[in-house]
Amino acid sequence: MPETPSMFDPSHYRNVRRPALEAETLPAWSYTSQAFYDREVERIFRKEWNFVGRADEIPKRGDYKVFDLVGESVIVLRDRDDRLHAFANNCRHRGTRLLDGSGNCKSIACPYHAWVYALDGRLIASLGMEESSGFDPASFGLLAIRLEEWAGFLFVNFSPEGESLAAYLGDLPQRFAAYDFADMVCVRRKEYDLACNWKLYVENAMEDYHTPTVHRKSIGLQKTLLEQGGTGAWDAIFMPAPQTIAVLPEDAASAFPPIAGLSGKPAGGTFFTVIYPSTFFATTQDCMWWLQEFPLGPGRTRVIAGSCFPRATTARPDFAEKVEKYYRRWDKSLPEDNAISERQQAGLRSGLARPGRLSVHEPAVHRIANWVLDRVLDGETAW
Ligand code: FES
Ligand SMILES: [Fe+2]
Repeated sequence: MPETPSMFDPSHYRNVRRPALEAETLPAWSYTSQAFYDREVERIFRKEWNFVGRADEIPKRGDYKVFDLVGESVIVLRDRDDRLHAFANNCRHRGTRLLDGSGNCKSIACPYHAWVYALDGRLIASLGMEESSGFDPASFGLLAIRLEEWAGFLFVNFSPEGESLAAYLGDLPQRFAAYDFADMVCVRRKEYDLACNWKLYVENAMEDYHTPTVHRKSIGLQKTLLEQGGTGAWDAIFMPAPQTIAVLPEDAASAFPPIAGLSGKPAGGTFFTVIYPSTFFATTQDCMWWLQEFPLGPGRTRVIAGSCFPRATTARPDFAEKVEKYYRRWDKSLPEDNAISERQQAGLRSGLARPGRLSVHEPAVHRIANWVLDRVLDGETAW
């Protein structure tokens, strides 16, 4: 590994920048070094929009949920007027962490000296501060973090300026409009704490080269094509298939009917989409699932898998029974991906690991690497 800061010298990455079928993979240090990770946090996760969860995780007024995003604790809550907010989870008096986990509250009281904040972030009580000269409570509200919603998906952005979520997503909402995500219900979330770099997990989700080996006992062969031409910070691959792939092949007869109104490509297969930096969506004929990679360090990632179905499907009398087939599929295939990603990380930790080459089945792996390099290298402009 080169010494920092030369690690960010573009000359190390010339071969990653070549066209996919001529390119090398990222060097191992991109997945293992603290310096590379810190640069990603600074230039990517603190600058771009990050998916944190669904609005239906905090359905009622006063509901809140705390997220850990690249070392920052963020409160996402719904205020009394039904507006959603994100705040830094620390008190404006002397910094104490305010909330943990999730729950419902009428206001936020600091456990240290009892300053109290309204759900819109205003400081509404600070007893004992009366004699502090020039102290203006209006200047000591919770620090707001930008939060925007698309079709029930919540995204936050630590940077106070910059493009809107709509601009960041480009034509993704329109291209995926037929799935009507806003009318979907998230019926299950599952968390995994993995010993791998966040990029490995996204790359794995965006290529089909591994499916005949890693998933030979579950989903088996999948064949996808890169979907290009979109605007916005996303890429997709498409897998033609006559019916949902969210159940195992032997459970195909128990699948739910397709989403009402799907036509064209969405009716004839599955899209696997990366919303940069670290969100994966799979959208198939009857449901969608997401994987959100929350990076915890160069070699650690918390993955949250969410499963969403159309509201009408969840209202079916046979939903509880049939959805078990879907859970069976995810609970078989995801641990297979988890194990191989941790095993890949273990291999990349070796000082003897060298860059590899990519097959025709991995165009998105190449695009992910280059999207990251566009942002972390010194003196680089868009690829
Ligand atoms: S640190 Fe919160 S009230 Fe003192
Ligand atoms: Fe996989």
